[in-house]
Amino acid sequence: MSALLELTNITKTYPGVIANENISLSVTKGEIVALLGENGAGKSTLVKAVFGLVRPDSGEIRIKGDLISAGDTAAAIEHGVGMVHQHFQLVPVMSVTENIILGDEPRKGIFIDKKKAREEVVALSKRYGLEVDPDAIVEDLPVGMQQRIEILKALRKDVDLLILDEPTAVLTPQEIEELLGVIKNLASAGVGVLFITHKLREVMAVADRVVVLRNGKTAGATTPKETNEEGLAQLMVGRNVVLQVDKSDAVKQGIVLSIRDLQANDDRKHTAVDGFSLDVHAGEIMGIAGVEGNGQRELVEAICGMRPRLMGSVLVDGLETPDMQPHKVHRMGISHIPEDREKHGLVASYSIEDNLVLNQFDQPPFANGWIRNSNALEQNANTLVEEFDIRTPSIKTTAGALSGGNKQKVVVARELSQNTKVVVAAQPTRGVDVGSIEFIHKQLVSARDHGAAVLLVSAELDEILSLSDRIAVMFGGKIVAILDGKDADRAKIGRMMAGLAS
Ligand SMILES: Nc1ncnc2c1ncn2[C@@H]1O[C@H](COP(=O)(O)OP(=O)(O)OP(=O)(O)O)[C@@H](O)[C@H]1O
Ligand SMILES: [Mg+2]
Repeated sequence: MSALLELTNITKTYPGVIANENISLSVTKGEIVALLGENGAGKSTLVKAVFGLVRPDSGEIRIKGDLISAGDTAAAIEHGVGMVHQHFQLVPVMSVTENIILGDEPRKGIFIDKKKAREEVVALSKRYGLEVDPDAIVEDLPVGMQQRIEILKALRKDVDLLILDEPTAVLTPQEIEELLGVIKNLASAGVGVLFITHKLREVMAVADRVVVLRNGKTAGATTPKETNEEGLAQLMVGRNVVLQVDKSDAVKQGIVLSIRDLQANDDRKHTAVDGFSLDVHAGEIMGIAGVEGNGQRELVEAICGMRPRLMGSVLVDGLETPDMQPHKVHRMGISHIPEDREKHGLVASYSIEDNLVLNQFDQPPFANGWIRNSNALEQNANTLVEEFDIRTPSIKTTAGALSGGNKQKVVVARELSQNTKVVVAAQPTRGVDVGSIEFIHKQLVSARDHGAAVLLVSAELDEILSLSDRIAVMFGGKIVAILDGKDADRAKIGRMMAGLAS
């Protein structure tokens, strides 16, 4: 039997980069193939070529034996290919139902049959066990929920080949389990799956085969039976990666960040942060553990001056920071690695060089009054690109042209390079490869060791456990317990996160 998908010698170049170089790969019916590689290795480019969104310079794409012309998305869809993109393609102002049916709406005469559409979405969501509110407006929803909508949209038409480009990056552990279950069920029903992820545990759990890309080329292939997480990391990065965080005991100093009785609403005007008080000391990493949707996002935004504080205050070194003035809050010493880098972290049309100084572009040494200091800007960019291993052809490249993980590295580099008193890091390693996770973790520990107060918010319990000196468990907008990082127990925290007494 011929393969479901057969790629032969795919090559694609961009100015200054060979994104894909002679890559060959196949997926058969019912097979789950994991595609791994560092940030910028060429994974998204390759799967976009399959879906017709990228036109390869050369090479052959066959689906179910038929030759597909380069850039022919319609042919890919006709041949049963469904794709979940790394970056959301949803229309923010439309409802969940409208987004899922977009482009192929059920009709009654010339009108969209809204009732039928809604029923279809409810049925779809039940069938795959991915719960969504069909009437919610997409822009009001957290990223994890938006990801679910993308997945349902891709599954709406029966597909033979499902391509998932980092679908789990923004999901909670619970949601990931569910999605992996959905993927396995689809495969047993005969669907071929091409699955991109940076989470090696997921690869070990579901993949039949693993293909690794490095610098645009195939670096190797293996199976979960033949290897383990360390082996996969080694194959991806080409060196030994330490998956554990190596850190000394915290040298805790005075209180720097003080959050007092903070209250804030979510976008639907419901209470999300409900009388939250916490002190973070210089020289410690305070982790916030919690199931997504318990007010973490709103907490971070309220601290950073991006969401109204209805009550309470946020102090840095005893000085009250202003409400709704992110720029001033930043100037007072709070840097922020935002969870949604596309929306808050970067300006896609600006160069990497400019993105690396977004909050300081009008400050010395980068500007003297109204005059830009190009030398200082270039020097800053070159140093950070080197230090944070941002893979780009040039510092003048626009941020929008970077691969997903490299965008994240730009944000992290900017925020950690400023020696601020407080670092608020929300999902700092979302979407970055194992080698870079290791690096970002080291940087957070080093910020701590240089005396910063680090507030770490992460949906990855493992990340919280391995980095935090103290852990605050958040549930229903409040802190339910504060534990010492050393004797924190995974199961106990899990129960607290679910709102159960310890
Ligand atoms: N539209 C574009 N214009 C210019 N360069 C691009 C474009 N898209 C991708 N590239 C470059 O091609 C290379 C491969 O990018 P790609 O997005 O395929 O990486 P990836 O493996 O998906 O990485 P990540 O894990 O970070 O998502 C990168 O060097 C990237 O900068
Ligand atoms: Mg990618």
